[in-house]
Amino acid sequence: MKEHKGKDKMDVLHMNAGNGETSYAKNSILQKKVMLKAQPLLEDTLNDMYNEDFPKCFKIADLGCSSGPNTLFVISEIINTIHGLCQQNNSKPPEFQVYLNDLPDNDFNTIFKSLPVFYEKLKKSRGEELSPCFVSGSPGSFYDRLFPTSSLHFVHSSYSVHWLSKVPERLDNNKGNIIYMTKTSNFHVFEAYLKQFQNDFSTFLRLRSEEIIPGGRMVLTFRGRSTADPTSKDSPTLNEILQESLLNMVAEGLIEEAQVDSFNLPIYAPYKDEVKAIIHKEASFTLDRLDTFEVDWDSRDKDDDKHYIFDKQTSGENVARWSRAIWEPILANHFGETVIDELFARFAKHVAEHLSAEKAKIFSIVISLRKK
Ligand SMILES: C[S@@+](CC[C@H](N)C(=O)[O-])C[C@H]1O[C@@H](n2cnc3c(N)ncnc32)[C@H](O)[C@@H]1O
Repeated sequence: MKEHKGKDKMDVLHMNAGNGETSYAKNSILQKKVMLKAQPLLEDTLNDMYNEDFPKCFKIADLGCSSGPNTLFVISEIINTIHGLCQQNNSKPPEFQVYLNDLPDNDFNTIFKSLPVFYEKLKKSRGEELSPCFVSGSPGSFYDRLFPTSSLHFVHSSYSVHWLSKVPERLDNNKGNIIYMTKTSNFHVFEAYLKQFQNDFSTFLRLRSEEIIPGGRMVLTFRGRSTADPTSKDSPTLNEILQESLLNMVAEGLIEEAQVDSFNLPIYAPYKDEVKAIIHKEASFTLDRLDTFEVDWDSRDKDDDKHYIFDKQTSGENVARWSRAIWEPILANHFGETVIDELFARFAKHVAEHLSAEKAKIFSIVISLRKK
């Protein structure tokens, strides 16, 4: 078996492109559900901004917009909320300049092609009173400067800032593990990931503080942990199930052990106090509010009160579909495209087994920040 030599992880990080069966556009209902859960905090933040009046042109950025419908969904929510506030107060709504950001390999064209429908829908919902709205793409890493000094009023980002700028260096003690913490990992690995998140999130805040006007706001939603102690959870995460599926293929000689040993996901799910400490130390923003919530792994599961999933096989396949839309490019780059179908077939089976024991959920954190 030949080892597949991939590019650097951040050069290949993007969600599955296009509109096909395995695309992010077709498989991002979970992330939409996350946006809906964060909506009350988003609306409260915009309401609060209205007290300070809106500028003539309201400039918004969505960071880590990806290529699916979710980014334009949240942008239309923001525009509709502001229009509603202006209507209530008999004031003229502002014009909107919207910047959609993601890494350069993101499939921006799929979003751009859906812009005519987006503008049409906005016109229908706001009618005559709709003020002009201009959408453009801003490719680049949000761990670099993206916009001119003091040029933005509002920054939004959903399910993106838990992606680190890189895998932490010196993870020699993480053999067989692909993430920061599993029951078999070494605590130094966790510390290295935490340090990387502290550096990255701090950089993110500093850069945005240069781009956002004083008093401007930022609403960020990202994956998080419900407990301070990373070892204390008693059920596996999806990342651990992905690892189990990879190791399964190693046991059958389909993937080399060394390939798994040299692979680590550049993702970190922080605990709320870790987030608060970074915001406090970096000191450019005031934390106005922090909420947490959970969504089911299988976001198509309608009954939130049930404890058990009855059709576990379908649920396993649903979870595998959205997980593949996120992870396929980074996994194919490291392990080769040929293992992907088999890997996600096994992953779906393992998720189904897990769901037959309990209805698992993903934990999220949403924060509202104000530039000092
Ligand atoms: C799971 S998707 C979320 C997309 C969208 N916000 C949503 O909620 O559907 C995460 C996105 O973050 C982007 N991303 C990760 N790291 C980034 C970085 N450093 N700069 C810009 N975008 C990044 C990825 O490319 C990906 O498109």
